[in-house]
Amino acid sequence: MLLPQEIIRIKRNGDSLSSEQISSFVDGLVSNKFNDAQVGSMAMAIFQQGMNTEEIVALTTCMMNSGDVLSWPELDAPIVDKHSTGGVGDKVSFMLAAIVAACGAYVPMISGRGLGHTGGTADKLESIEGFNVQPSIAEFKRITKEVGVAIISQTENLAPADKRLYGIRDVTGTVESIPLITASILSKKLSAGLDVLVMDIKVGNGAMMHDIEQATALARSIVSVANSAGVKTQAIITDMNQVLGTTAGNALEIYETVKYLTGKQREPRLHLVVVTLAKAMLMNTGIASDDASAQILVDNALSSGKAAEKFEMMIAALGGPKDLIENPWNSMTKATMIQEVLAPAHGYITGMQTRDIGMTVVGMKGGRLANDDKIDHSVGFDRILPVGTVVNKGDVIARVHANSEDVIAYASQKYIKAVDISESAGEVFPVIYQTIN
Ligand code: URA
Repeated sequence: MLLPQEIIRIKRNGDSLSSEQISSFVDGLVSNKFNDAQVGSMAMAIFQQGMNTEEIVALTTCMMNSGDVLSWPELDAPIVDKHSTGGVGDKVSFMLAAIVAACGAYVPMISGRGLGHTGGTADKLESIEGFNVQPSIAEFKRITKEVGVAIISQTENLAPADKRLYGIRDVTGTVESIPLITASILSKKLSAGLDVLVMDIKVGNGAMMHDIEQATALARSIVSVANSAGVKTQAIITDMNQVLGTTAGNALEIYETVKYLTGKQREPRLHLVVVTLAKAMLMNTGIASDDASAQILVDNALSSGKAAEKFEMMIAALGGPKDLIENPWNSMTKATMIQEVLAPAHGYITGMQTRDIGMTVVGMKGGRLANDDKIDHSVGFDRILPVGTVVNKGDVIARVHANSEDVIAYASQKYIKAVDISESAGEVFPVIYQTIN
C-alpha cells in the first residue's frame, strides 16, 4: 500500500489516481491514517488538479461505503429523492416529498442542517414541537414504508468519510471544488439506497454556484457520476437570485408549506420549482409516462388534499402533532414582535442580495454561526415581495419576526439594504434555467 504522501504526490502532479489509491485515501479518512495535514493537502491537490469521472465515481462510492448503506427490498414502488444545493427560503423539499409520496413513490429523504447562509431542512422541521429528526434507521425505514415519506437529518454513520473530509475542506479553502462537492453530496444521497435522484442545482447570488457555467459544470458532474453509480439522476438548474417563496426563517417556512399544501397561498416561483421537480421525479421513476400525465398527478395530489395528508402523517409519525395542517401555530412558536419593512422609494424591486438576507436570518439566531449554537426557530421574514414588483414609497416589502427590539431594528435595516429599488425595471431572471440528463 502506498504511503499517504505518495498518493498526495500523484494528484499534486496532475496524474489520475487508481481506484485502489482512492480507496486507501478514504480508508485513511475513516481510520485517521491520513492526518489532518495530509487530508487538507489531498483536498487541495484535488481542488487544483481536478478529477476525471472515473476518479469521482471511485471517490463517491468509497465514501458512500464508509458507513451505512440502506436497501429497501421490502418496498414495491420506486424509491426517489431530491437534493438541493441550498438557498434562502428553499422549503421545496416539504411540498415535493409529500406530493411525490401521494403519487405512489417512496421518499426516504435524508436532509441537512443549515450551511453558511442557507437554511437547513432538518432545522426547519425542528420548529415543530416533538418532531424527531434523528430516529433510528429501523424507525426511518418503518415510517417510509407506512407513510411513503420520511424526512430526517443525517445519521452519525452515514458517509463518515465525508464528515471528516468536509470539516477539513471547510477550514482549508477547498469547498468549491466540483469533484469534491459531487462526491460529498452523492456519497450521502446514494447511501439512502435510491432508484432515482433529482438534483436541484441552485444558481445565483444566494447559491453556492453564482453563475450558470459553474452550475452547469456541477450539474453535469453530479449527473454523470450518479448515473455511473447506478442511480438514475437528472439535474435541474433553478434560480436563487432572490428568496424562494415569501418567507425565510424556520417556523415561517413550515407555515408557508402548510399554506401551500392546503392551497391558501402558492407563490408562483416556488410553485413552478415544486411542480417542475415533482414531474421530473414522477417521470424518472416511471410513475408518469410523460409531462402531461405527471402534471395531472401533481395537480390531483394537491387538489385532493392527499399531499397535505401525507405531510401531516409524516409529521405525526416522527413525533410531531397530529393536526399541523389544521392548527400549525399550536405546535410552533411565534415570534413576539412583528415589524413591517417599508419601501424607501417608489419604483421596481430590481434585485435582492439573497445571501445577505440568509445571513441576516442567521444573525437573528435563525441559523448557526458555530456548530453548537441554539436556533431561535421563530425568527425570520415573511410577506417578502419578489423581484419585478412595482412598489410605492411606504409599501410593505416584507415583515420581520423577532423577539427583541434590537433584533427587529437590525433585521429591518439589513433587509432594506439587501433589496434594490429602482425607477426602471431590471432584469427578471428565469425560474428554471436548464435540465441536465
Ligand atoms: N453540500 C455538501 O453536502 N457537500 C458539499 O461539498 C457542498 C454542499
